[in-house]
Amino acid sequence: MPLTVGIIGCGRMGQLYAEAYNTLPETELVAIAEMNPERLRVVGERFGVDALFADARQMLDTVTPDIVAVVLPGKYIKDAVIAAAEAGVGGISTDKPIGAVLSDVDEMVDACAQAGAVFAGGNLQRAMTEVQQAAARLKSGEFGPILGASVHRFGSEISGGGCQHIAVLRLLTGAEVTEVTAWGDPPEALEQEDDEGLQINGQFRLSSGLVCPVFTDETPCRGVEVWTQDTLVRWDWDVPQIFRGFDAQGRRQPIDPQYEPAEYPQYGYLGTSIQSFLRILAQGVEHEDELFVSGHDLLKSLEVAVAAKHSALRGSVPLSLPLEDRSLALYPRAYRWLGGDASGVPQSTEEAASNSPS
Ligand SMILES: NC(=O)c1ccc[n+]([C@@H]2O[C@H](COP(=O)([O-])OP(=O)(O)OC[C@H]3O[C@@H](n4cnc5c(N)ncnc54)[C@H](O)[C@@H]3O)[C@@H](O)[C@H]2O)c1
Repeated sequence: MPLTVGIIGCGRMGQLYAEAYNTLPETELVAIAEMNPERLRVVGERFGVDALFADARQMLDTVTPDIVAVVLPGKYIKDAVIAAAEAGVGGISTDKPIGAVLSDVDEMVDACAQAGAVFAGGNLQRAMTEVQQAAARLKSGEFGPILGASVHRFGSEISGGGCQHIAVLRLLTGAEVTEVTAWGDPPEALEQEDDEGLQINGQFRLSSGLVCPVFTDETPCRGVEVWTQDTLVRWDWDVPQIFRGFDAQGRRQPIDPQYEPAEYPQYGYLGTSIQSFLRILAQGVEHEDELFVSGHDLLKSLEVAVAAKHSALRGSVPLSLPLEDRSLALYPRAYRWLGGDASGVPQSTEEAASNSPS
């Protein structure tokens, strides 16, 4: 019997989830909750789903799918995740950024833990099969001990997009960020409640003892680098490059990493993220920390971004993680927080009805 799936929030991103769950052999999409009635009608027709609801509560009062994917604008994620946990859904996933206020995200993680539900993250580059394989090789010691790590282009959206950097950094180094010291620019962006336009330079202290520089600039990568004496792994918003050994001038040499391909390449890293979720659901909640992306990972990404903003705001004070003050917050830009309809870039009904949403 396939696992039944309900999608809560079926806009641009929710439709990508619906496509994946509708075609994977292990799952069957059975219910959709979507606030926009026209969009709800056309995505129901498009995916052949009759159980259509206006919101999470209505859905969960009627059906309890095995899996609920919450693909809502940030403002609405908490209520839907907690409602799903209270309804007894065994597997709940959401996407980034998971929220704005740290205590809200704590509540989601706690509600899922108390209910015994697996709480997964979503479409993050951390779930890319090649990123996972590079991390596994670093962890195995194949490249020798990790000597350094750096974060590049941590700016303009440190919560909304920068959460990708933090999630990859923690994976590749196998370490937690334990202290954040940051400088923020421009000053008016630091004073805002949201992360739009805020550029961060600084350093992250890691639980492994390494101190990781954080650059606003590209220098020349835009992502995360982790290195050993003779190897450098570079994630630059794509399949990680691996450099191994040196040429006659002592320069690092790119190698072909010979990554294994993903089983369902058509769904990209959303597909590998979902597959990891299905695997952990089968193994049990005690394996939750093996998820390619977990709710905990999304919380850690938010927490580092919040710490960077507040360190910078207070004059580059080093802030220890976990942050004690759980009322601290950082909001993403309006599209991510409120969605396309409310922020002036709605998806048209025609696009929602078609097989290739914009
Ligand atoms: N991981 C990624 O690469 C990535 C990329 C884009 C978006 N996202 C995230 O995915 C989420 C959705 O983004 P999107 O691009 O699909 O936005 P969108 O605006 O296209 O879709 C959101 C949908 O949710 C519906 N909705 C809003 N509030 C609701 C509620 N309370 N109950 C039911 N339905 C509700 C809206 O009507 C809309 O159809 C956001 O959190 C965004 O940050 C992640």
